Formats: sequence, C-alpha cells, structure tokens
Amino acid sequence: MVNSMEHTDIKQDLTGDSGDGGFLDEVLAGLSKSPKTLPCKYLYDEKGSQLFDAICELDEYYPTSTEEMVLRDNSGEIADLIGPEAQLIEYGAGSLQKVRILLDSMEAPAAVIPLDISREHLMASAKTLAEEYPQVEILPVCADFSTPTSLPEPVGNPEAKKVGFFPGSTIGNFTPEEVINFLEIVADDLGAQGEFLLGVDVKKDESILRAAYNDREGVTAAFNINLLHRINRELKGNFDLSKWRHDAIYNDDRGRVEMHLVSQCAQTAHIMGQPFEFTKDETIHTESSHKYNIEEFVDLAKSAGFSSLQTWMDKKSMFSVHYLKVA
Ligand code: AVJ
Repeated sequence: MVNSMEHTDIKQDLTGDSGDGGFLDEVLAGLSKSPKTLPCKYLYDEKGSQLFDAICELDEYYPTSTEEMVLRDNSGEIADLIGPEAQLIEYGAGSLQKVRILLDSMEAPAAVIPLDISREHLMASAKTLAEEYPQVEILPVCADFSTPTSLPEPVGNPEAKKVGFFPGSTIGNFTPEEVINFLEIVADDLGAQGEFLLGVDVKKDESILRAAYNDREGVTAAFNINLLHRINRELKGNFDLSKWRHDAIYNDDRGRVEMHLVSQCAQTAHIMGQPFEFTKDETIHTESSHKYNIEEFVDLAKSAGFSSLQTWMDKKSMFSVHYLKVA
C-alpha cells in the first residue's frame, strides 16, 4: 500500500552541485570576455524566478500559454505514448505547473523528479505538488541540469519507463553544440528505454519575437536588471542600476533572441574590488533563446542519438512540442 503521508512530506533535498558555488568565478570570467557575457542560469534567484513567472503571464510572451495549450490539446496522445507507471524527470522544473497536465492524463504515474537550480522555489513547488498528488512520489533535486548529476531511484518498479520532460523551450538557452551535449546527458539519465518530451520555440516573424522579449510593462527588463542587483548583493558589486537598460534583439544569423544589458554611459563597476570598464552602449549578453523549425530540431536531436516519435504544434505554428526516444 502506498503511504501517501510519506509522499506529501518532502524531506529530500539531494544536493549535487547546485551551481551557485561558481557564481563569482563565472561572473568574473564572463565580464573579462569580449564581448562581455553573464550565464543566464543566474537570472533565477528567488526574485528572478518570481519575475520569470510574471513574464509567463504577459500577453506578449506567447511560449508559456501556447505550450500549455499544445500539451492540453494533445494530452491523451501524449499520455498514451508515455504509458502506465512511468517516472517523469523534469529539467529546470520552475513552478511545476505544466507537469500537472501530464499527471492528470497519465495512467498511474509513479514519480516526478524535478531538477532545478533555484532551491527555495524548487522545494516550495515540490511540496505543493506532493500535496496535490499524494499517490505520486516527488523527489526534488537541487542541481544545475546542464551538468551530469546522479538522480535518486524512486521506490516501486525499478523497470519503470523514464520519461524526461523539458518544457518552456529552455533548451533554447543552449547553443546547438550545447544541445547535443545536453541531450547526451539526458540519454544517460533516461537509459535505453528512455523517452523525452520537450517544448521548442519555433522561428517566426521578428516583430513577434521582439515584443515577447521587450514587453511594454517592463517585466522582462526587471528580470534582466535583477542579475545586476544580485551581483551587487551577493558579490559585493557596485553596479549603478540607473545607468543600465534592458534590450532584446533577434540575431537572424544564429536564429536566436539575445537579451542584453546596455551601459548607458562610459562607466566602471567593481565586483569584490575588481574593476570592470564599460563604454557607452557596450552590452553584457545575458541570455540567448534559440528558435528552431521542426526539421531543424529533429535533425539536431538525431545527431545526439534520439529519434523523433511525434511533434505537435498550435494552429498558428508558434510553438512545438517534440516526443523523442533514445535511439
Ligand atoms: C525560460 C529560457 C525559455 O528564453 O524564452 C523569457 C527565458 N527570458 N523572457 C526564454 C526568458 C526572457 C525563457 N526560457
């Protein structure tokens, strides 16, 4: 018999490398490069995760609502492909909203293993999920999912199929070369019978992309600028936030939206006493969101050893959901 109390009480806080040990080193390295960059994973501290959730509610930011619609509209077919008693491994789990769509249509889901770098946010969302789904084992892991981490073994059937879930087009943060590396890590996590359900944003009219990443309310701007707040707070930085602005552009050659922080004047900022100089209009590149047409993405997945079982899109072909299998 399943002891549901045990499952609602989240004690697990398996810590691999949560990634933030390297915050200072990675910031210093990124700002010493030319052009200057900062790793996008550090956008998601407590405040950043809240701002990201607010972005997902914006009219202009179509990926979240469109993906949810595609998952809902095809949940029966997706659940059939996943099959009974499967374990779900969610990469970059965030607030764990979308996995509910799967759990609600799956037959006897066994476990969810959510991986996320943002500890407080992860533990809070995992606790709520466990309360709502007492018959499903929820095993949160605080980790940077772009590097290999050992995953917990859920109790129950050791033969259970493992299905990776990577919604939100977070895969777009990787360059195509990094996608291949990541898919190889995922294949390793999932094993020979593994399958992988993931959301991928699609190439489209540039004006729609620009609007999605430069929203009128300035939530995306606050999300981006929050990274400098975080550096000031956690790394003894002295960025003058009134002298920076957010911008997002579409880089057509590389098929990606890029978020930048733009220095509005010539200035110097210090981190742990170390000076960094910025010219007027110089930018720090903080995030890339790569966009793929269906064939482009299927080819990329194939080169990492996955085959494509199915792809779904919304009517306007704004967003795609791929179902892959370890080949
Ligand atoms: C969570 C990485 C998929 O790239 O669209 C949203 C993050 N950045 N608005 C994206 C983001 C600015 C988002 N991902």
